[in-house]
Amino acid sequence: MTDTQTAYRSALFHTLDNPAHQPAGEAHQYFADGLLVVENGTITHCGDAESLLKELPPHIKVVELPNSLITPGFIDTHIHYPQTEMIASYGEQLLDWLENYTFPTEKQFSDPEHAQRVASLFLDELLKNGTTTALVFGTVHPESVDAFFNEAQKRQLRMIVGKVMMDRNAPDYLTDSAQSSYDESKQLIEKWHNKDRLAYAVTPRFAPTSTPEQLDVAAKLLKLAPDLYLHTHLAENKNECEWVAELFPESRSYLDVYDQHQLLTERSVFAHGIYLNDEDCCRLHQTGSSVAFCPTSNLFLGSGLFNVKKLESHKVNIGMGTDVGGGTSFSMLQTLQEAYKVTQLQQQRIDPIQSFYLATLGGARSLRLSDKIGTLLPKSEADFVVLDLESTPLIKARMANANSISEQLFILMMLGDDRSIKATYSGGRCVHQR
Ligand code: GUN
Ligand code: ZN
Repeated sequence: MTDTQTAYRSALFHTLDNPAHQPAGEAHQYFADGLLVVENGTITHCGDAESLLKELPPHIKVVELPNSLITPGFIDTHIHYPQTEMIASYGEQLLDWLENYTFPTEKQFSDPEHAQRVASLFLDELLKNGTTTALVFGTVHPESVDAFFNEAQKRQLRMIVGKVMMDRNAPDYLTDSAQSSYDESKQLIEKWHNKDRLAYAVTPRFAPTSTPEQLDVAAKLLKLAPDLYLHTHLAENKNECEWVAELFPESRSYLDVYDQHQLLTERSVFAHGIYLNDEDCCRLHQTGSSVAFCPTSNLFLGSGLFNVKKLESHKVNIGMGTDVGGGTSFSMLQTLQEAYKVTQLQQQRIDPIQSFYLATLGGARSLRLSDKIGTLLPKSEADFVVLDLESTPLIKARMANANSISEQLFILMMLGDDRSIKATYSGGRCVHQR
């Protein structure tokens, strides 16, 4: 034990495994009076406060956090930083929304100053909402990725981003070519991948905006390093799926387009995946690929209902995504609220423990980072959130009637938002305080 240790005394909750595949209560840990000990950015102890305080030296700094709950930092497995300032754009479904709002907005990111300003605003929003790691879309402009990595590096965050690859079916001002997308992505990989806590995701926007040649280039880029990510969209909207079937008549399904181009890997994250058949689910499972469930976006854009139980039954990795600006909130709590409603509409009812799993360890597993983030286990990076159990009069009153951690979590996800985030820590440093 050394002077540099700090102990946070609060209720603690984290999941250790997927509750969907474990007997009730065996996949999580809860300490009503817990202690989280952090040293040099790493968690060293997580457990019951009274027992741990007996072991720890008497001079250790203890930060008392009454009426709080510490959980791992939230992990957003699908979000677009360039769409921050177009969130809540009225009245379209996916393909028209892209044409009328998204593409004109993304055009502005050829300007590095604009990109830097929006990246900074975006990261502030994430941290304010307790999200400590995200898998992020840039735009087609390499400048957008440089700006994002610069801002994330300044804040010493664990973040993943990539340059959009798009060589057809988009305005000229936003398209690259198979060759230029290779050259520019490769340069960014060499400059940023695995620098500090940053990593790169090869990012073809979605099948309709890439030629088969460009999808082959994406697979070639993945070979540049063993731990690169593949990040794209999949089977989000019915018209989109019909368009993909026309563009790729040789493919068995939308997912099969990516499969035929060798893009299903253990580090592939597909956003949405609403329209998938059993064979698709089997391929996702066999290849260790992951799907990002983005309920606020799926409801806002009228895309459809994600089937959690079906993907769970095929043991496909699932993480939560806000998908801002198709999504309507940066808050993972609000995202879990909408996820619950999406499952209710399908007679499924995702439970609160499972919900928090998806927002933390489920996301970490999708990103193959569960040895580093997603739990409060010793040796993990100290990326955690201090949730306020009394952030509004209504929440305080409702919490007074809560009888279990499960009920407390449910109240947070139904009634909570950024006001519930008392503080956010990344690598042991406080990066947001309300
Ligand atoms: N599919 C292709 N591009 C996008 C995008 O920017 N947002 C969403 N939600 N879906 C997409
Ligand atoms: Zn998206």
